[in-house]
Formats: sequence, C-alpha cells, structure tokens
Amino acid sequence: MSASAKLQLDQMTPRQIVEELDRYIVGQTAAKKAVAIALRNRTRRQQLSEDLRDEVYPKNIIMIGPTGVGKTEIARRLSKLSGAPFIKVEATKYTEVGYVGRDVESMIRDLMSTALSMVKVELQSSLTAEAQLHVEESLLDLLLPGSRKDGESTVSDTREKFREKLQRGDFDDKRVEIQTSSKASGPVMEIFSGAGMEDVGQNLGGALGNIFGGKAKKRSVTVKQAREILFAEELDKLVDMDQVTEIARERTQSMGIIFIDEIDKIASRSSEGRGGADVSREGVQRDILPIVEGSKVSTKWGTIDTSHILFIAAGAFHISKPSDLIPELQGRFPIRVELEELTRSDFQRILTQPKNSLLLQYKALLKTENVEVIFTDEAVARIADYAFEVNQMTENIGARRLHTVMELLLEELSFSAPEIPGQSITITPAYIDERLKPAVSDQDLGRFIL
Ligand SMILES: Nc1ncnc2c1ncn2[C@@H]1O[C@H](COP(=O)(O)OP(=O)(O)OP(=O)(O)O)[C@@H](O)[C@H]1O
Ligand SMILES: [Mg+2]
Repeated sequence: MSASAKLQLDQMTPRQIVEELDRYIVGQTAAKKAVAIALRNRTRRQQLSEDLRDEVYPKNIIMIGPTGVGKTEIARRLSKLSGAPFIKVEATKYTEVGYVGRDVESMIRDLMSTALSMVKVELQSSLTAEAQLHVEESLLDLLLPGSRKDGESTVSDTREKFREKLQRGDFDDKRVEIQTSSKASGPVMEIFSGAGMEDVGQNLGGALGNIFGGKAKKRSVTVKQAREILFAEELDKLVDMDQVTEIARERTQSMGIIFIDEIDKIASRSSEGRGGADVSREGVQRDILPIVEGSKVSTKWGTIDTSHILFIAAGAFHISKPSDLIPELQGRFPIRVELEELTRSDFQRILTQPKNSLLLQYKALLKTENVEVIFTDEAVARIADYAFEVNQMTENIGARRLHTVMELLLEELSFSAPEIPGQSITITPAYIDERLKPAVSDQDLGRFIL
C-alpha cells in the first residue's frame, strides 16, 4: 500500500472504517464499531502531547463468537485497510509441544518484521524512477560494453539507438550475463527463516548468505529477466535501511496491531482441576501478559516498547469464558464484543454482497472457461437454505458452510466447463435440489461431503 493511501486511512472516521468493512463483511456491526473506535483512538493518541500520550493505552478488544461468523475476517480486512503493521498469531501455538517456553516475544519481532517490509516497499515506491534509470544504463552497458563513457560520438549514437530499442522491448529475449549478489539466493534463506525459528533462521541466514552471496555469481538470463533482477537489486541499494528501520520501529510501537486468535483455548476452566494442560495454558497467559501490559522487547532492530500496540483477541468461548482468563489479562482486554450467529438472510448476503463474494468468485473462475453462470435470486436463497440446514443438521461452522455447499453444487459444472465453451448456465432452485438433495437427505453422506 502506498504512503498516500495510508495517510487517507489514518484520517478515516470510525464510521468510514465501518463502511469500508461493510464492503466485505456482512452484519457484525458491534464488532466493526469496536474495532473502528480502537483504530481512531490510535490516531487521536498521535495528536496528544507526549506526556499525556504515554498515559493513554490502547483499549484492547476481545471478540467473542461462534465459529465461522467473521472474527478472523474482520481482523484480516482491518489489516488491509489500516496501513498499520499487523500480524495474526494463534494463542495455542505457544502451548504446542516443542513451543512450550517458546518465547512469546517472537510476536513482537514478527510484527516489526512486517513493518519493515511494509516501510521498505513504501520508501522504494518513491525510488522506482531512479532505479529504472540505473537499470537502463546497466543493461546498455551489458549490451554495448564500453559505450557509457562519452568517447567517440558514433559510440554514444549507437548507445542511444540501443536505448530506444531497449525501451521498446526489442532486446527482451536476448541473453546477457549478469552478476547476481546474495539477493538472488533469497528463496533458499526464506525456506529456513519461514520455518518459524527466527533466531536460528537469522543465524543460518547469515551463514548461508556468506556461502551463497559472499561471492557474486555469473548467470545467463534474458534481458527481460535481467531487468527485473537488476531492478530489485537497484532498489535494495537505493533504499536507506537505517531510515526504514527507524520508521518501522516507530510505526510498530505506535500503530502495530496483533491479532491473537483462539484465545479461548488458553483460558482454563476453573471448575476443573489444574492439570498439566491447564498449567501450560495459564503459563502462556502469564507469558503474554507483560507484552500486553507494555514492556520492552529487544530485537535485532533495537528495543521495541509494546505499551501502545493494539491487541485484538478472538475466540469462540464455547467451553471456557473470558472470565476464565487470569484477571490481569482480562483487565488488559476491557472491550468485549460479541459476534452474532449468522442467519439465513446473512448467508444470502454473504453469497452476493461482499466485493469478493463467493458467487462472484465462482462466476469469474468459470468465465475463464468461457462459461457464463447465472444465479437467480431464488437460487441464492436456496443455497443459503441448504447451508443453514446442513449447519443445523451436522456441525455449525457458520459461513464456512457456504464454501462446502458451493463446491458440491458446482462440482459437475467445474468438471465439464471446458467442454461447453460459450454456454450460459442458469442455476435454479431445481438444479440445486438435484445436486444437493441426496447429500442432505442422507445424513451420513452429508457429514462427509458437506
Ligand atoms: N459476517 C461475514 N461476512 C462475510 N463473510 C463471512 C462472514 N463471516 C464469515 N465469513 C466467511 O466465512 C469464512 C470464515 O470466517 P472467519 O475466518 O472470520 O471465522 P471465525 O469467526 O474467525 O471462526 P473461528 O472461530 O472458527 O476462527 C471467511 O473466510 C469468510 O469468507
Ligand atoms: Mg478465526
């Protein structure tokens, strides 16, 4: 997202934020409002005098609601629209075998790392023109070695002719040899650092960086590929990483959002004895507490103060309740919002209204086969009915049911679409009944395929 888009979002009022969320998420107004207010408070805080600013803490939120009603979706959309560094973690991952005692501070490092990439892209976007110029010169050097120095005029004339051709793409398929530095072996390092063992990853990354990147390697590539590779390298060279780190750290501290999913899974039921699992769950809560309360976490990019990071927790709380969390943690999540169970008509709206609605997705997919799919209003209502019924009949998985129902409904069409290009298929209630009735009337079958 560009810096200017971010600026706009900073200025959005809670109502505008809710309207933005409305484009993707049906209903759940209370949750949207709570989240919008928390975000706006963030902006408000930025405008306070420094001493007062430090007194104002973000009001963290717990979203409570059954499965598949939009908790994670709200957070996901928020991250896309807020321009703030955002990460999502599952609280349960800190209780897993192998992760026990794993330091929960890694979430802060992950957040910072997200901020870094974000800021880097923003700063780089202002450098693209400059980078492109450099790349063009480098490519001309490769195509016409020795032509850069303005020696004889014939040489620079040729260079200018080449430049025109280069810009037209005439050389795109021509092969050239380029020197690639450590960046070209990036994917190798990503495999390691992506495995979630950031400290090990960092060290390994360094070691691998030396092995692969210490020496530049020669590679033969097309001009088109060379342009991309050189462009990425040029951007890396031009961007001032100290500046990126500085901005990213500031943004992490004052605008960061951490979404802690499955928080209910680390709440222990007080009615039960304190078994081993309970102890480890409570342990995770105690580990998380200082971070939520505000502490200084050291990272390789410097110390990060977590006092003003916004935490949004979410959980179904089927078995446990928010009051089963340790009191200190409860106190740090003063805002509770309940998400509602979705109704039949919500299902209908989810199918059709969001900008990325399921029906639009399926229509677009089949359009690539030159098959047009039309859903009548009655058909939409019928699909919603089926999803609703199946949720009642088997397990209620909320709007996720729409995905399984749609998949089964369109399975046959997806399979045969390439054989009927140019056709237009209208999905009617009768079509739906034919496809879905067998699965719904046979409970055992339904359990497996819906
Ligand atoms: N209110 C809604 N509006 C639009 N789509 C929704 C809504 N609720 C759920 N969905 C759809 O259902 C899917 C699952 O929703 P989501 O991931 O938000 O569930 P959740 O509430 O986080 O459930 P869980 O407790 O199981 O994590 C989403 O990908 C989205 O497509
Ligand atoms: Mg979720």
